[in-house]
Amino acid sequence: MMRLTLWYQESLIEKLTRYVFFLFVVIEMPPPSSGSGSGTGTGKGNPPRGLQKKKRVRTARGRKNSSTRWLQRQLNDPYVAEAQRQGYRSRAAFKIIQLDEMFGLFKKGRRIVDLGAAPGGWTQVAIEKVKPRETGGIVVAIDYLEMEGIEGATVLQKDFTEDDAPDMLKQALGGGADVVLSDMAPPTTGHRATDHLRITALAEMAYEFAREVLEPGGFFVTKLFQGGAEKTLLDALKRDFEKVKHVKPNASRKDSSEMYIVGQGFRG
Ligand SMILES: C[S@@+](CC[C@H](N)C(=O)[O-])C[C@H]1O[C@@H](n2cnc3c(N)ncnc32)[C@H](O)[C@@H]1O
Repeated sequence: MMRLTLWYQESLIEKLTRYVFFLFVVIEMPPPSSGSGSGTGTGKGNPPRGLQKKKRVRTARGRKNSSTRWLQRQLNDPYVAEAQRQGYRSRAAFKIIQLDEMFGLFKKGRRIVDLGAAPGGWTQVAIEKVKPRETGGIVVAIDYLEMEGIEGATVLQKDFTEDDAPDMLKQALGGGADVVLSDMAPPTTGHRATDHLRITALAEMAYEFAREVLEPGGFFVTKLFQGGAEKTLLDALKRDFEKVKHVKPNASRKDSSEMYIVGQGFRG
């Protein structure tokens, strides 16, 4: 019975894989040069203006399939295309670019910690701005998922919630931090209250760590979900920082309840 179930699951996975591959093959892809003449936005944090014609996954007609919807959304997302064009590993890179434009997080020589860093878009942006090789700045990234190394960053593959993770980060930092970023997000369960509690717990742990390493004047940025149970965290941030702001960068999907809290001017 067990074997039969395994066989059934494997064959289902194979079918799904073939189906998703088929979807990719039948998609109308634009010619590689199609974006070049239409303008690529006003700055690195902006999506291209005058988006191309909306792309449609042909096999999606009449189907309510979540992978079709995901694919269609990816294809029509200007940030996905722009991330590929600019060599960023994730569209999330544009969120931190926009947050940096708003708050001036990254300056040459700064010391940055990136929690929940994979696949590495935020780390790439931090390195571009901090220029660790030239300035002596430091970028330390951590994720429990494997992440390809990035020149100029120390990348730890580790669950941040494990007891020894903070010490490993401190050792890699070798001193204080100017900015602690957390884009950590646990896999969503679909149960709103549970998802809120889980992301809030991660944000609180991130802040506990930030309090230990941040230099006076430092920044803390964390992802949260709107309407979550973040009051305790907000109260702590308001006490410890000169300014605390809620922000939803343009690159954050409109249909997601994700937002970021930014603490500026750590009081030490
Ligand atoms: C939205 S993604 C981060 C994207 C990243 N900022 C980028 O620019 O590519 C969230 C990440 O948080 C990581 N994460 C969630 N819980 C974590 C934990 N307990 N320890 C380490 N990483 C965690 C996930 O593995 C995932 O890679």
